[in-house]
Amino acid sequence: MTILPELQKPSAVQLRELDLRHLIHPHQQAARTERCIIVRGKGCTVWDAEGNEYLDAAGSANWLAQVGHGRRELVEVAAQQMSDLAYFTGWDVFTNDKAVLLAARLAELAPAGLNRVFFTSGGSEGVETAVKAARLYHHRRGQPERNWIIGRHFGYHGSTYGSGTITGLPPMQAEVGPELPHIEKVSAPALYRAAALYGGQDPTDFLIDELADTIERIGPQRVAAMIGEPVMGGGGGILVPPADYWPRVRELLSRHGILLIADEVVTAYGRTGAWFDSANRGMAPDIIVTAKGLTSGYVPLGAVLLSDAIGEEVTSQAFFHGFTYFGHPVACAVAHKNLEIIEDEDLLARSQLIGEWFRTGLAPAAQLPVVGDIRVAGATVGIELVTDQDTKAPLMAGGAAAHIRRTHGVIVRDYGPTLVLSPPLVLERHQADRIAAAIVEVLSRLDGDGRLAPL
Ligand SMILES: Cc1ncc(COP(=O)(O)O)c(C=O)c1O
Repeated sequence: MTILPELQKPSAVQLRELDLRHLIHPHQQAARTERCIIVRGKGCTVWDAEGNEYLDAAGSANWLAQVGHGRRELVEVAAQQMSDLAYFTGWDVFTNDKAVLLAARLAELAPAGLNRVFFTSGGSEGVETAVKAARLYHHRRGQPERNWIIGRHFGYHGSTYGSGTITGLPPMQAEVGPELPHIEKVSAPALYRAAALYGGQDPTDFLIDELADTIERIGPQRVAAMIGEPVMGGGGGILVPPADYWPRVRELLSRHGILLIADEVVTAYGRTGAWFDSANRGMAPDIIVTAKGLTSGYVPLGAVLLSDAIGEEVTSQAFFHGFTYFGHPVACAVAHKNLEIIEDEDLLARSQLIGEWFRTGLAPAAQLPVVGDIRVAGATVGIELVTDQDTKAPLMAGGAAAHIRRTHGVIVRDYGPTLVLSPPLVLERHQADRIAAAIVEVLSRLDGDGRLAPL
């Protein structure tokens, strides 16, 4: 033990001090020194180091925890696998039984024609993999000039250099030098702000015209792929596209031989009520990137599902790409069991049900002056706050989220002006009602300047 003896059973205060001194958090904001140190979870409940109890309305505050916290079945599978074989490389001729079986299971669940799988440790690596595979596909088919990738403003695709450049949030690219070249972005489908953004035009018409113009400007034969989340998550605050959006995007891309990558890091494995959300939106992607819900977060794992045609090109010669933890046997074993639980407990249907419970429970919030829009996609909800209903000026949701956590013991996330819910899919009705009631209570005391009236 190299840390001080008194820290072998650290207090919450000591943990906070050590955290402030040593740990750099993703998206760290220097001014925020509050820490919520989570140490334990069971079902939809988690506890912090001081013993405070919270209802997890945001899936470990990162869009996952599909099967809930503290599942013994997953612990036992992981322990058994560590004892049988903790790790062996998946490179070259080597592989392991759990990776093989999980790849086969994913091909079974995936939309028809996506039968090839490449494992990663998470979503950013998955996006990088998808982009490389798409470019390689075109190169090997004699079109090496097809290098451009089209993403969308407000899209979130990760934070490595490649995925971070495709992410449509300027802070991701600030102060870190030149971005990756050959990346272009188009508008997101943001229906709540349609009048201001699309100048009275039908939203899909506007977005398709813009995409067509962008492809034309770059040169159709120079575009490798477009990437998009079927329903936009963190960046856009749950943006659900019009029903005709993805079918028309798909049709336009196909006309020009451009591939479509569905970033389903958030939406896959039941989050919006389906194994793959893209399957229900007429997206027909060539590649699907997944992570998070694949293991419910018990261990890190991502999987990229590739069409047979892309898989064939990628494997026709060496594919110089891969990660040490590719097809990690413990992660794959846990993922397999996690998928089994999702299926056995019918959590896809439960996800839809949770969305309905939230719709009902949050109905009173829709009447409040600071609530501009409520968007639901399965067990995912975005509540967009505004300073004023007429101007729709955004009201940052961070203060409300912190208050809901501190005063009601409910953990929700805030993304700019949007409060986001994405609870474990084992959530029960009374828990959904408690979450909704906490949100309604706090938002009913919030004014357009972000001030909370006292209780
Ligand atoms: C849609 C989407 N894509 C990619 C990523 C990046 O995944 P990771 O953080 O595992 O690298 C995320 C992360 O939240 C995401 O929401």
